[in-house]
Amino acid sequence: IQALGTSMMGSRLKVLGSTTSTQDEARALAEDGAPEGTLVIAEEQTGGKGRLGRKWFSPAGKGVWMSLILRPNQPLQDTPQLTLLAGVAVCRAVRKMTGLDAGIKWPNDLLVDRRKICGILLESAAEEEHVRYCIVGIGISVNLDETDYPPELQGVATSLKIASGTTVDRTQLIAAVMVEFETLYELYCSQGFQPIASLWEALSVTLGESVTIKNIYGDEVHGVAAGISAAGALLVDMGDGRQVPVFSGDVELKR
Ligand code: BTN
Repeated sequence: IQALGTSMMGSRLKVLGSTTSTQDEARALAEDGAPEGTLVIAEEQTGGKGRLGRKWFSPAGKGVWMSLILRPNQPLQDTPQLTLLAGVAVCRAVRKMTGLDAGIKWPNDLLVDRRKICGILLESAAEEEHVRYCIVGIGISVNLDETDYPPELQGVATSLKIASGTTVDRTQLIAAVMVEFETLYELYCSQGFQPIASLWEALSVTLGESVTIKNIYGDEVHGVAAGISAAGALLVDMGDGRQVPVFSGDVELKR
């Protein structure tokens, strides 16, 4: 087994063959008191979960499907910041490992060639609006071929292998993500969200774009993505002098 190169992130590891969802495994461990940095990895998920109640396609041996337990000492309302931090960590790791020009679409889809290669799902447990733990779920489509995807994902999703033309070592990629995560999380805990927000903005493919954002209720906001608020929301310029913070939803990029 290769060393991860971190002191906390991934210091406890649970590696599974097939599981329903690493999110559920991680939640059970967190409820049992597993420490911050505990990482659950699966070869395959039979019930992989995406944001907004969607399914996440997680075939055996082709991707990185993992969930990381964090125990930040903070109010629940700050957790969107960790979602953005996770996006930056994976984006930096992917760029370093593959040289691909990966960018982040708000809140945390990783895109290459405007197609999705990674999704992040953050779930939290809180007591009296204070975080007990967060589970950061990271799904990276690593070595999938075009033909591995079901028809509805073809042309929408891509993989590191499709985009770079070479097979990528999943163990090395996991280690690279953990190293980036640990560096950024230490920065976040010592200096707050501002430096993370700047890094996110530099990797974003959303800022400056004209966007339509739909939330789970089907409400829509149209405007220009202008920045990230102190809480981690996307600030949308409405064109009439108003900037509206959007905390969750799906961004459609026009162009
Ligand atoms: C999204 O883009 O909608 C988020 C996808 C998150 C997928 C990962 S894979 C590991 C973890 N376990 C899950 O069931 N989901 C997350």
